[in-house]
Amino acid sequence: MQNIEDVRKDYVEQIEASETPRELLKAPTLKQLYGVIGTLPPEERGAYGKAINQLKLSLEAAVVTREAALENATIVPIDVTAPWDLNASPIDLLPTEQGTQHPLTRELEVVIDIFTRMGFEAIESRQIDDDYHMFGALNFPENHPARDGYDTFRTEEGYIPPAHTSTMQHRILKEGIEKLEAGGQIAAVSYGRVFRNEDVDATHEHTFYQYEGVFVSKTASLADMLGTLRAFFEAYYGQNLHTKTQPAYFPFVEPGLEFAIEKPAALNGKPGEWLEMLGCGMIHPNVLQAAGIDSNTYRGFAWGGGIERLVMLKYGIEDLRHFESGKLAFLRKFV
Ligand code: PHE
Repeated sequence: MQNIEDVRKDYVEQIEASETPRELLKAPTLKQLYGVIGTLPPEERGAYGKAINQLKLSLEAAVVTREAALENATIVPIDVTAPWDLNASPIDLLPTEQGTQHPLTRELEVVIDIFTRMGFEAIESRQIDDDYHMFGALNFPENHPARDGYDTFRTEEGYIPPAHTSTMQHRILKEGIEKLEAGGQIAAVSYGRVFRNEDVDATHEHTFYQYEGVFVSKTASLADMLGTLRAFFEAYYGQNLHTKTQPAYFPFVEPGLEFAIEKPAALNGKPGEWLEMLGCGMIHPNVLQAAGIDSNTYRGFAWGGGIERLVMLKYGIEDLRHFESGKLAFLRKFV
């Protein structure tokens, strides 16, 4: 134990003098200390292991302090009146270890990247919306019970923090009319934060993220949609997948489907273990008409699903609540 204390003092001294303190943590002497555990009588191992972990923590802390000191020493005061110089090297204000992208942001970018490569335009969804975009434009009749299925929050003024990214469909369709009239097609993916008034548990959150596709052309078909979705999931998980659909009801599509994939063996799946990944279907003629698109000439498909579910399967995350928890121990796993 005395030996460990000596090692600690010695390393802290070196760290405080070093220009590259993190390198010192890789020193072979430290690794050898772990090797000693196996050679000790069992009753001493626990205490010794604890002491080494303690040593590791205090050296890590010394490194962080030293790095911050080195960083501060190099901060150049910013002259806000200076002309912008394109050739100047950017000033590092924060060491990059102090922050990273949230895993959901990072994975959302992966998702968007796949769809933009397929030719879809990416549009961020709104975080406050109205009854018309949430329900009316999406073929939910007034007072229809399907409205209750979305557990919407409402502000006192009657605005709605959207419960799905489908609130963007009407806008995407309306803006796309010119493209259709010019002989083209509408192909867009909206993505963003959605909100539901739900009790939170391992698979439900009041705040989560969705991605949603809208495609319209003269010839769009269910087969095109199934091919697009399959290509997306295979690209996202980097492997071939079995997929299937089952009937589902959403007022804004007809037919409406749920799209499922068989959990891949590489992700601890058993054969026959199906996971519903999203809702989808052919855009209901009333939704096209509400946006001013002639539903006799044009047809479309749409889908919408949760980002969390995608990411949980990819990384074997067991509890949805980790994402919004802000726990560093969770976030650091994605550095
Ligand atoms: N908006 C639906 C939901 O969140 C999913 C969906 C999107 C279904 C588009 C069909 C078409 O439950």
